[in-house]
Amino acid sequence: MCGIVGYIGSKTDIKNALETLKKLEYRGYDSAGVAFVKRGKIQCFKRVGQINNLIETIGKKSAKICICHTRWATHGKATEENAHPIMSYNNNFSVVHNGIIENYKYLKAKIGAEKFSTSTDTEVICNLLEYLKGDTISRVIECESLLEGSYASLIIDKCNKYIYAIKNKSPMYIACGKKGTTIASDISCLNAEYFYNLPDHTVAKINKKEITFYSNGNIIDLPLCKNIHNFESNDLGQYKTYMQKEIAETNKTISNIVELYSSSNNYINENIFKGIKNVILTGCGTAYHACCLGANWIQKNLKIPASAYIASELRYSEPILDDSSLMVLVSQSGETADTLAAGELAKDKGCRIITITNVGYSTLANLADVCLPLCAGAEIAVASTKAYAAMLAVLYLLSHATSGFIKSLQNLKEICQKFNSDNISKDIVKKVINSKRVFFIGRLDDGVTASEGALKLKEIAYIDACGYFAGELKHGTIALIENDVVVIAIITNPNLKQKTLNAVEEVVSRGAEVIIITNDKSITGYTTIFIDTAIDEELNSLLSVYPLQKLACEVSLSLGFNPDKPRNLAKSVTVE
Ligand code: G6P
Repeated sequence: MCGIVGYIGSKTDIKNALETLKKLEYRGYDSAGVAFVKRGKIQCFKRVGQINNLIETIGKKSAKICICHTRWATHGKATEENAHPIMSYNNNFSVVHNGIIENYKYLKAKIGAEKFSTSTDTEVICNLLEYLKGDTISRVIECESLLEGSYASLIIDKCNKYIYAIKNKSPMYIACGKKGTTIASDISCLNAEYFYNLPDHTVAKINKKEITFYSNGNIIDLPLCKNIHNFESNDLGQYKTYMQKEIAETNKTISNIVELYSSSNNYINENIFKGIKNVILTGCGTAYHACCLGANWIQKNLKIPASAYIASELRYSEPILDDSSLMVLVSQSGETADTLAAGELAKDKGCRIITITNVGYSTLANLADVCLPLCAGAEIAVASTKAYAAMLAVLYLLSHATSGFIKSLQNLKEICQKFNSDNISKDIVKKVINSKRVFFIGRLDDGVTASEGALKLKEIAYIDACGYFAGELKHGTIALIENDVVVIAIITNPNLKQKTLNAVEEVVSRGAEVIIITNDKSITGYTTIFIDTAIDEELNSLLSVYPLQKLACEVSLSLGFNPDKPRNLAKSVTVE
């Protein structure tokens, strides 16, 4: 969701900075823009749609300084006018911004609403700079102190000497290279060994040779961080889409986890749960589903009350949080705003905090007492697949922190070769495509997998799908079962097999088409995808979700969609 790249250095093609910006395309966006100074004037080019449209417009234009942005519309429609960079009313400043300025209405009224020409909250930043008095750095410092909300912003003025950066609750990284300095909102696009991670409420004044950091108006030092962001090549290789590639990388991800967590007990050890009386797990979307399974396993294996919360609900639902609570924040990106808000609440309440994330330098990683890496490498496709499997794997290990940890690592290692590599049959894909809607059902852990299967199908194939605990079917949803409805049943729990099969029979007799995902070879007479069985029953959730991810991907491709970039969705949702 929104991406920022700034470049300052020797005169270079603006196209280079835009190529760096392209590495952030995966986050989701609907317009792109760039600003730079030419003959004492700030020039700003913006296009709705793909960055390539902008690259075409820019051609061979060059500059020593430029700021670029991909926007995912929040305040104001996806138009050129609302795209960033946004110019101030006298054209003296240009700003790109990620986040939401929560007091923009108040500031707008103070500056004078007639001076505004876009529907964005961002415009308040550049107009405030224009409105305040003094040299640019004092204006930037004062402006930063007046803003409320979340922001990672880059600012340029007509002097063409510096890029100014401000930051609160939204990431911003600065990397100095031999030829110039690159500033970006996402570390994955910075090709540098060392970088600065801008803390909240810090202002940076950056030129080609030096960077000055300010906090509360005073100059401060910041440490350089080593970039251990060792993401493998982002090339598609033999695959048509990132989603296909990333699903296929699941077994590699699980082996990485086994390797890392076997090599050191700094990550998971018995001290994690010392003195803990309740565990709250929270995340959004796919990460929330991982939390549901994590809560089941922690409660079952550690005998500590554990519950999963949707992160956007958590801070309004008054959960029991104190210094004997453990909050587990689960997030692929480590930047999801709602999960961050939940983490901040937990911090205020004195809880112990664990973050499970794929991005070691993310805001959520920094917030935690312990950060547990997902080891999944770059996940480019918007819909999470291998990172979901990684979340389950890490949560599984966590649920064995106090006993049986070594055995749990062995169990995990053992499933690496068990992911079903068969293609999803054309017949099954056709059934789903031709359906009016799809229900996914299962019991206990399989019920959670049902919800994740439904989410995947909705996200990337735009098919009306819902996940239910099979026992709930006859309490309402069965009213929707008729011809042209597909029901996908997940059955990996032998104790509840017959219960789910009862629900299957009920929907068959009302005309539904049924597809079963199971490891039980004795289930016959239905269209079935057979999966392998894990030594520990809990790990079957990793094996059963795998064909559901592939199914969603195949359906999306067959319908002519791009599963990597689903409409209206962003990979990393950095606003509430
Ligand atoms: C967005 C994505 C989802 C993802 C969710 C949580 O909504 O579209 O695929 O599951 O964010 O992201 P996180 O990075 O916190 O795991």
